[in-house]
Amino acid sequence: MRIGTLGNGLMAEALAGQWVKAGHDVMVGGRDPVRAAEVAKRIGAASGSLSEAAEYGDGVLLAVPADVAVDVAAMVPAGRTVIDCTNALDHRDFTLAHPGTAEAISRAVPEVQVVKAFNLAAETVWRNPPVGLGVPICGDGGMELVQELVRDLGCVPVEAGGLRRAKLLEATAALAIGIWVGGGDVRGMFPRLADAFGAVLPGQP
Ligand SMILES: NC(=O)c1ccc[n+]([C@@H]2O[C@H](COP(=O)([O-])OP(=O)(O)OC[C@H]3O[C@@H](n4cnc5c(N)ncnc54)[C@H](OP(=O)(O)O)[C@@H]3O)[C@@H](O)[C@H]2O)c1
Repeated sequence: MRIGTLGNGLMAEALAGQWVKAGHDVMVGGRDPVRAAEVAKRIGAASGSLSEAAEYGDGVLLAVPADVAVDVAAMVPAGRTVIDCTNALDHRDFTLAHPGTAEAISRAVPEVQVVKAFNLAAETVWRNPPVGLGVPICGDGGMELVQELVRDLGCVPVEAGGLRRAKLLEATAALAIGIWVGGGDVRGMFPRLADAFGAVLPGQP
């Protein structure tokens, strides 16, 4: 598929680099053409302005600071899927500066499909994703496109509900990052379903 990135920073390079390797056509979009071209060259993609990348992609990765996410997402044409990986993290105490970024994008740009995804792990993880890592995604449309992009990383898409639940994913990222920074083990916090409830539900490991 054709993928545009809005932003040419760490997340755009990490994720788009994997999608190039998976055979997708990628355009890295940035506000500075030189920086966008440098990143694109490193990963083997094309480059363009933010609006060119927004026009280009069937899927458009929104990888900018959360406080400008709504304004930047407004460049995406109707019918496309915006993949929102932003975290409105308040680094002072690892809370959210403002919850509900994905929903705010959807309210402001209702003609696009917004899917929250990839916000739970650091860009270093996406450069070399652990095989089988679960990637929760929240959205009301565009889910199949994002599921494909998750699988392209060797990861497993986890349907985490509609866009109304995206704010929970945003809060989970803030919680997890705070625990990581404090030296805690986030992956050790969640038992398997069977271990938690003593029963295995159909389709659950
Ligand atoms: N880094 C991580 O590990 C990680 C993990 C999960 C989620 N996230 C989230 O992903 C998003 C991107 O993070 P990142 O690490 O890739 O950030 P980054 O490396 O700092 O890159 C940010 C990108 O946003 C662009 N940008 C900044 N202000 C802009 C504006 N006003 N208008 C248009 N573009 C603007 C920057 O453009 P210039 O190059 O021109 O400055 C840059 O291309 C953030 O919301 C972050 O919370 C990050």
